[in-house]
Amino acid sequence: MSISQSAIRNPQWIRPLVRELHPYVCGEQPKIKGLIKLNTNENPYPPSPKVLAAVRAAVDGRLRLYPSPTAQALREKLTKLHCCHADNIIVGNGSDELLALATRCFVEPDGRVTRGPNKNVSGTRVTRPSEVVQYFTPSYSLYPVLADIHGATKNPVALKPDFSLPSVAELKRGRRKPPEGGTPNRWDFNAALTFVTTPNAPSGRGYSTKELESLCRAQRGVVVLDEAYVDFAEENAMKLALKHPHVLVARTFSKAYSLCFQRIGYFVGHHDLIAALHKIRDSYNVNGLGQVAAVATLDDLPYCRANFRKVIVTREWLSRELTKLGFRVFPSQTNFILAQPPLFSAKDWLKKFRDRKILVRWFNSHEVKKYLRITIGNPTEAKALVKAARKVLLG
Ligand SMILES: Cc1ncc(COP(=O)(O)O)c(C=O)c1O
Repeated sequence: MSISQSAIRNPQWIRPLVRELHPYVCGEQPKIKGLIKLNTNENPYPPSPKVLAAVRAAVDGRLRLYPSPTAQALREKLTKLHCCHADNIIVGNGSDELLALATRCFVEPDGRVTRGPNKNVSGTRVTRPSEVVQYFTPSYSLYPVLADIHGATKNPVALKPDFSLPSVAELKRGRRKPPEGGTPNRWDFNAALTFVTTPNAPSGRGYSTKELESLCRAQRGVVVLDEAYVDFAEENAMKLALKHPHVLVARTFSKAYSLCFQRIGYFVGHHDLIAALHKIRDSYNVNGLGQVAAVATLDDLPYCRANFRKVIVTREWLSRELTKLGFRVFPSQTNFILAQPPLFSAKDWLKKFRDRKILVRWFNSHEVKKYLRITIGNPTEAKALVKAARKVLLG
């Protein structure tokens, strides 16, 4: 039984909003050994030996001390990578923490009185940001949960059927009908907070900086460009965070930098937004060993970049092989692919792969339930997946 399913014995102590909340569902972390784990977009390659050495060297008497509350050394390193200042950066306990902080920082919970017109960071008069958290569907399934936790209004708006971004003109034209059911919604150019997963998850589709910029320009509230997978993509939109005062770019060390375990993510953006986020974060929100690991990672970027390339080569190989077997594979700019399997439903394939000791991900939501999301493993794992798929098809 998961934590969320356990019976609440004394519901009166718990806020109704929390009682009714559907929490985020994490991908399975298997307890059985020997499974090939292609379900949570972890990197198949370990952190660099230099990172492991740095973490080991930090495990000493220092553990009794608090870490830097602002992840100072890490932010300094990141300023060099992104050509910005330390006050343009906030580090979080994974980018998930920062997505949650952004929701708390920029969005009014439902039912609160919103005050009249206000000025935005560039001094223009705008209507005060609303209680709306907006995102495309499908995208990262945490966004609606964050909105629900905060008691905000959600505005999910469908991507196009091929998971491309609707243009601003298309968004202005009216309601977007999701491909298979679901409520069509109108895009809200005044939403307090808009999350855009770019490249998109779970489809893997990449977006150009040009189209993202058009969208950002049209938004009057804060836009978070969630670039969790961008190191596997052709383009990134970091420059938008340093150009537009209402745009934040979210990055993580989890996926491309093999540090899921350490929980390090960061936002880059205008110093006013970043300062507001610093105000509401926990005092020591980023653990010390994580900070050490991330700094050491930035000192060994060639190692990481070689891994990005390996993942991309395997991704292209796997896409080709699965296509040959009759899977419909969407082009990906991430470390996973979305594929519609042949012959059986995606849910059945999930089980068939699991029976063959391979974990992949299936989402029970109307837009993507026809598909499997498959993390790109190492070449041996990818070959094992293709072999298993072939066996399933041969019966
Ligand atoms: C789109 C997207 N954003 C953010 C995250 C969170 O990453 P982190 O490990 O930094 O919290 C994930 C994790 O799966 C993700 O898929």
